Amino acid sequence: MVKLIKPRDANEVVASWETSSEYWNKYQGTIETMFAPLTRTLVASSEIQPGQSILDIGGGSGEPSLTLSAIVGESGRVAYTDPAAGMVQTARNEAERRGLSNITFHQSPAERLSFPDNEFDTVLGRLSAMFFADPKSALGEMLRVTKPGGRIVLLVWGPREANPFFSEISDVLNQFVPAEPEDEDAPTAFRFARLGKLAQVFLDAGAIEVNEEPLSFRIEQPLDIEGFWVLRTEMSDTFRSKLAHLDSKEVAAVKSATVKAVSEFFANGNMNFPAQVLIVTGRKR
Ligand SMILES: C[S@@+](CC[C@H](N)C(=O)[O-])C[C@H]1O[C@@H](n2cnc3c(N)ncnc32)[C@H](O)[C@@H]1O
Repeated sequence: MVKLIKPRDANEVVASWETSSEYWNKYQGTIETMFAPLTRTLVASSEIQPGQSILDIGGGSGEPSLTLSAIVGESGRVAYTDPAAGMVQTARNEAERRGLSNITFHQSPAERLSFPDNEFDTVLGRLSAMFFADPKSALGEMLRVTKPGGRIVLLVWGPREANPFFSEISDVLNQFVPAEPEDEDAPTAFRFARLGKLAQVFLDAGAIEVNEEPLSFRIEQPLDIEGFWVLRTEMSDTFRSKLAHLDSKEVAAVKSATVKAVSEFFANGNMNFPAQVLIVTGRKR
C-alpha cells in the first residue's frame, strides 16, 4: 500500500527551512536575480526612501534586505529577520562579503520580534508570510514595531495554476508519491493565494488602508531544463523528501515526466516561466 505523505505543521516548517538553507546558500545569487522583479515591486509599493528604517521578515538567503540596504543608504537601516539559523548565516555572510554596514541580523520568527514598539518606517516580507505559524499574531507583532502611519507590505504566491514553476513538478511528484489532502491553512506556498485571505488577516490584526493587488511577472534565468530540475529538487524540502521515497528508476521517471511538462517554458533554451504573486499592503493607525 502507498504511504501518504503528511502535511507539515508550523514547527516542522521552520525545521525544513533549516535543512533547505544550505541550498539557499548555494543558490543565493540565482534567487536574487530570479525574483528581482518582486524586490522592485516591494520597493515601489513601500515607497522606500534613503534614510528610512526597514524591517525584513523571513529574509531567507538575504532578499530583499541586501537590495534595500543600498536604497536606504548610510543614513538608513535594515533589520533582517528569519527563524532559520542557516538562512541568517547565509544572509549575514553575503552582507559582509559586500561590505554592507547598515544591516543587522536577527534570528526570530515574525511572531516574536525583539524590537521596541514604533521602531520601523516599513515592515515587509517577500514570500515568507505563507509559512507563519500564527499569521494573526505575526501581523500583530509587525504592527507593534511599525511607526504610527508606517506601512506593512507582504508579498505571497498567487494561485497554483498561475505558477507552473511550482505546480508542474509538484503535480508530477504527487502522481508518484501521493500526499494527504492539504488543509487550506497549512503553511505551504499557496496558503494565501485566495484573494482577500491575507488582507483579512491584516484587518483582523488592526491594520488600516488594507489593499491587495495581483502582480504577474516572469521567472527568467539563463538555466536549461537540467539546471531547473537540479535547482527545484535541491531547493525544496518537500521535493527532496518525496524523491527520497523513490528508487532510482522512479526518480528517472519523475524527471522525464517533469521535463516533458515544463519544456514549453524553455522555448529558447533558457528558463522563462509566467508567475503571479499578490501584494498586500496596510498601515498602522
Ligand atoms: C520562500 S523563503 C523566502 C526568503 C526570502 N524572503 C526571499 O524572498 O528569497 C521563506 C522564508 O520564510 C522563513 N520563515 C518560516 N517561518 C517563518 C516565520 N514564522 N516567521 C518569519 N519567517 C519565517 C523561512 O525560514 C524562509 O527563509
